[in-house]
Amino acid sequence: MGIIHINKLKPGMVLDQEVRDINGRLLLKIDKEIQSSHIRIFKIWGITEVNIRGNNGNKNPSTGPADPELIEKIKENTQDLFRHADLEHPALKEIFRISVLFRCQHNFPENDKNISLAVADTGEATVEKDFLQKLQKETITLPEIPSIVFELNEVIANPLSSAEDIAQVVHRSPSLTALLLKIVNSPFYGFPSKIDKISLAVTLIGTREISGLALGISLISLFNNIPKEILSMHSFLRHSLACGIISRVLAAHKSLPQTEQLFVSGLLHDLGRLILYSYFPEESRNLLSRARSTDTLLYLQENDYLGCNHTHLIKHLLQLWKLPMVLENNVFFHHSPLEAQQPVPATLVHLADIITNGLGIGTSGERFVPPLDHAAWENLGLSPTCFDVVTKQATHQFFALESMLDV
Ligand SMILES: [Fe+2]
Ligand SMILES: [Fe+2]
Repeated sequence: MGIIHINKLKPGMVLDQEVRDINGRLLLKIDKEIQSSHIRIFKIWGITEVNIRGNNGNKNPSTGPADPELIEKIKENTQDLFRHADLEHPALKEIFRISVLFRCQHNFPENDKNISLAVADTGEATVEKDFLQKLQKETITLPEIPSIVFELNEVIANPLSSAEDIAQVVHRSPSLTALLLKIVNSPFYGFPSKIDKISLAVTLIGTREISGLALGISLISLFNNIPKEILSMHSFLRHSLACGIISRVLAAHKSLPQTEQLFVSGLLHDLGRLILYSYFPEESRNLLSRARSTDTLLYLQENDYLGCNHTHLIKHLLQLWKLPMVLENNVFFHHSPLEAQQPVPATLVHLADIITNGLGIGTSGERFVPPLDHAAWENLGLSPTCFDVVTKQATHQFFALESMLDV
């Protein structure tokens, strides 16, 4: 058994794992012999790698650095980052294995480099237990939701609206238009020919998908003012985008119909930290410093220091903005998914966050891989064997979309 790149696929090879497109649609069943027509279909639908039976595949697609000492060092560092995760658990064991390979291949910078540790913790004096009340009493003014999101929802809700009507609203924001076209032309969707019109994008990927993407992009771009000395915004966006993409790919593997909701949920899951870093820089510096000096998980340190954590902050914001309940379900419970009304999508974001932290793609300030909720994992019914393909598909899409972070 092994995973091989689509360009190395030859007729006659036998599938060792079913092939699905990004929306979860089955393209070819396990045990089927591959014909040239299948290869053509895989390429059309943006499949980059498949699992092949026998000796034809490459069991270890990662070449990684040749230096065994370096590999050992990366393994040790990664092990340290997994210190709060139970590496005996089969899912975490597999995520750890993939994370080590990925870090060897990509030589990502350590997350610590993106987190400011310049200000030392001043001790017990500055505990901010009334933090959430401060927000709720509106003593600070949070950004307003961009009007284009409302306009878009309105036009989409109208059954008489055409794809052209929706495109007209999107066109009012040139940056949103550019980003949406970039996304629909990337391997994220894998369309065979170039899409140069929003109206065509709406027709091809659907109104809900377009509104979900527009919402995620508009909201995340509201906060672009994190003080550099606290955390690199670029690094935060990488973490958010990777978590969104991994959530979406996991949803496709679970054959969930609303994969775009999972993308937006993953994209926004740590947005509460942006409120914190943007509006309370001093508290944020102390918080990060405390987590660092005690080697604790950041969200637990938030509970101790602020009396709430970043999920409470984003819940407040989502309610203020009157956004769909499904976002609240997935985002508010991404650290405690079984408490959600719909635990499966919340667990997918929970898992995507763990994988993103393991791979080390950006950071939202957390140094360590958050622990897995074992019961939520059991309830999900996925097998750890899916992580290899999920990670490959998701990182392929991530690198294709990464340039949108610089727009
Ligand atoms: Fe989080
Ligand atoms: Fe996160």
